[in-house]
Amino acid sequence: MNGKNMVTIVQTVAFLGIEAVPVNVQVQIASGLPAFKIVGLPDKAVNESGERVRAALVASGLSLPPKRITINLAPADLPKEGSHYDLPIALALMGAIGAVPSDALDRYFVLGELGLDGHIAPVNGTLPAAIAANGRGFGIICPHSSGSEAAWAGDDIDIIAPKNLLSLVNHLVGNQLCTRPTPKKQVKTDNLPDLADIKGQEVARRALEVAAAGGHNMLMVGPPGAGKSMLAARLPSIMPPLNPRELLDISMIQSIAGELANGQISDRRPFRAPHHSASMAALVGGGLKVKPGEVSLAHNGILFLDELPEFSPSVLDSLRQPLENGETVIARANARVTYPARFQLVAAMNPCKCGMAGTPGHICKRGDRCASDYQARISGPFLDRIDIRIDVPPVSVADMISPSSAEPSANVAIRVQKAREIQMKRYLQLGINNVHTNAAANSSLIEKVVKPDKESKELLLRASERFNLSARSYHRILKVARTLADLANSEQTRRQHIAEALSYRIKFA
Ligand SMILES: Nc1ncnc2c1ncn2[C@@H]1O[C@H](COP(=O)(O)OP(=O)(O)OP(=O)(O)O)[C@@H](O)[C@H]1O
Ligand SMILES: [Mg+2]
Repeated sequence: MNGKNMVTIVQTVAFLGIEAVPVNVQVQIASGLPAFKIVGLPDKAVNESGERVRAALVASGLSLPPKRITINLAPADLPKEGSHYDLPIALALMGAIGAVPSDALDRYFVLGELGLDGHIAPVNGTLPAAIAANGRGFGIICPHSSGSEAAWAGDDIDIIAPKNLLSLVNHLVGNQLCTRPTPKKQVKTDNLPDLADIKGQEVARRALEVAAAGGHNMLMVGPPGAGKSMLAARLPSIMPPLNPRELLDISMIQSIAGELANGQISDRRPFRAPHHSASMAALVGGGLKVKPGEVSLAHNGILFLDELPEFSPSVLDSLRQPLENGETVIARANARVTYPARFQLVAAMNPCKCGMAGTPGHICKRGDRCASDYQARISGPFLDRIDIRIDVPPVSVADMISPSSAEPSANVAIRVQKAREIQMKRYLQLGINNVHTNAAANSSLIEKVVKPDKESKELLLRASERFNLSARSYHRILKVARTLADLANSEQTRRQHIAEALSYRIKFA
């Protein structure tokens, strides 16, 4: 492919959501006035790449001929974002001037950012790129620090992860080989806060267990200092570990978002707790650069929104779509990007602005308006998506003084794990492999697996008259009841399960 006026091609990727789409970097060095041009919808970072590439080549002892150099990123209609195009551009140029054998690069995806001194800096998205490469029987050339991330793509994928341009050239011409990196896992330090720290709060502890077991969204309402934030922080300690498929999915998102430190992946379920000042872009994704937001980083894990009414109402409402269908769509002028976002929502709030409404003996200065104004910041449809809503009353001093006899997280985690296994098995037996929890089941599926008996139906009927249940709330109650039955290892969903599920739906002002 090398020769005068010929085109050298190196392959890299562009990211569409978490998918890595192949991109060809074509270089032509032609006679004419010296020029250096990048075409094919490059963003600013890609456009500036020319300067970095030139400097890095000079630092590595190579110089570009004073000719007309054109670089095309094909397909031309796909927007190219990010700094990982430096290395493929540099390699294509080096192939074109004969500094590396250009056929050596035929079966690789290349990505990496270049420093002016020729070192190769880490980039986001190495894992999805490596998986895409492996799927085609290709290898990958990536920065040294992303190497162990790429190694997760497969045992036999060819990985070249050099520290700088010079060692890459040496590897390609066979002078000095780079060793293949090995996959690295984050070491578990196991210092998760434990449920045993919590005194009293029996109802909230039980609700936490039910939420973890069935993957249900949950809201805790209570006065300041009742222990809501404390309870939520202990949810990760009772969640089952990620299965390999879930692990891969979340690691891909973390890779794209640049959240994999040193290319190490962790099998702990994500727990994201964005502050209430978070913007819509920070939460659902997007912004200046299309990037996954908190909802996607919480994929297969927990999104904890503390002080729920303090979030901007429009930000909260933007969560309605991902809550319903498990993904976010970011629409742009020239692209539409989808990120997975199947998270479990856990939220905490005070009942009113002063925080004390409903506490015996307390009268808000602003009367009933205090609670109703505060709670009105959360829209009905948003609230409707929360399966479990409980009151968290203040702990009594007696509870605080008594020596703690609370059950440790490890015991609860075993029950949660068992209930999860029952759910997985049930939905697999029905031939549905994308539903693993009761919370994720759709309404027709949940009706099929609950089959309430006569007593339960009567109870549901009475409750619907009293509480004015919507169709969605009806299904959500069935889901929680099913989880309660699973926790009790009961085939049938009984009246007591429905009754308990109904108790997890406190009224709002
Ligand atoms: N049930 C409990 N057992 C032990 N300590 C508790 C309990 N509840 C509260 N505490 C103590 O009170 C502190 C505050 O609790 P936490 O921050 O969870 O309250 P909160 O309900 O989130 O309050 P706020 O509404 O102000 O956010 C905790 O750090 C802990 O020291
Ligand atoms: Mg709190």
